[in-house]
Amino acid sequence: MLTTSLPGGTWTLGGLTVTRFGYGAMQLAGPRVMGPPADHDGALAVLRTAVELGITHIDTSAAYGPHVTNQLIREALHPYPDALHIVTKVGANRDPQGGWPPARDPQSLRRSVHENLETLGLDVLDLVNLRLGDATGPRPGSLAEAFETLADLQRQGLIRHLGVSNATPEQVAEAQAIAPIVCVQNMYNLAHRRDDELIDALAGQGVAYVPFFPLGGFSPLQSSVLSTVAARLEATPMSVALAWLLRRSPNILLIPGTSSAAHLRENIAGAALSLSADDLAELDTIGR
Ligand SMILES: NC(=O)c1ccc[n+]([C@@H]2O[C@H](COP(=O)([O-])OP(=O)(O)OC[C@H]3O[C@@H](n4cnc5c(N)ncnc54)[C@H](OP(=O)(O)O)[C@@H]3O)[C@@H](O)[C@H]2O)c1
Repeated sequence: MLTTSLPGGTWTLGGLTVTRFGYGAMQLAGPRVMGPPADHDGALAVLRTAVELGITHIDTSAAYGPHVTNQLIREALHPYPDALHIVTKVGANRDPQGGWPPARDPQSLRRSVHENLETLGLDVLDLVNLRLGDATGPRPGSLAEAFETLADLQRQGLIRHLGVSNATPEQVAEAQAIAPIVCVQNMYNLAHRRDDELIDALAGQGVAYVPFFPLGGFSPLQSSVLSTVAARLEATPMSVALAWLLRRSPNILLIPGTSSAAHLRENIAGAALSLSADDLAELDTIGR
């Protein structure tokens, strides 16, 4: 059994135990998540630091770079420790302008699963999320053909577990009618709480919720209430935002992104911050 001193302890994704404090690799690619990083060795060091600090959940996608973060993960960490679980996603391509055009037809999904296997150097992917919607957020519409394609690849033994990303609650339910899912990866943080009900429903089902942009993503979280609480606790707003997410629900797994090993250490320390009932009540006013 995995024991950890990381804040939040562990969670089991299907049969895979992971630390609730994970690492999102997107920030390791170049500007606008295109091309290689300016500091290749620094990127490798961030990944190795994550594993040295005990993180066993790394989030990536073939679309980051494209292929760049997968290649960095392989270069830094292959052969992978048994405890490490790499979560990837399929369903979007990149265009030369850095856009994220959807690629959810069966042929594109099959190709993307094989590309992820190859670039990560794996025979089986632990967990694949089907990315839905577009860059502006979830969009309604059936995921049946796409999710059935992934379920088929799972039956073929190429994928252990499935999840969905950037999904509406209706799409989550539609996916669950096709095959079990172990996580939903949607945008959520202290200031963007559209998924509050979904998080609680998933917690009741034992399904993980993995917020992307936990720190606000490309535009850092800004709120006078957050700044006030952080100042009172002599902590950074980022620390408070991460500690709040861990307290929000036991099924929330963190994948904050950073291209800096120092920030990674700061974020781990920050997520361990203890928040009082008064702090939580005050923070609760932000995204409501
Ligand atoms: N499913 C999807 O559609 C989707 C979409 C977006 C992201 N994701 C996943 O979610 C993960 C997290 O999202 P994200 O990385 O975009 O956003 P995020 O975690 O909310 O924020 C990352 C940003 O915060 C900065 N940062 C992190 N720690 C910091 C610290 N201690 N002090 C100052 N700045 C700090 C990073 O800059 P530095 O590099 O300078 O630290 C980076 O600019 C991604 O890595 C990716 O794996 C998924």
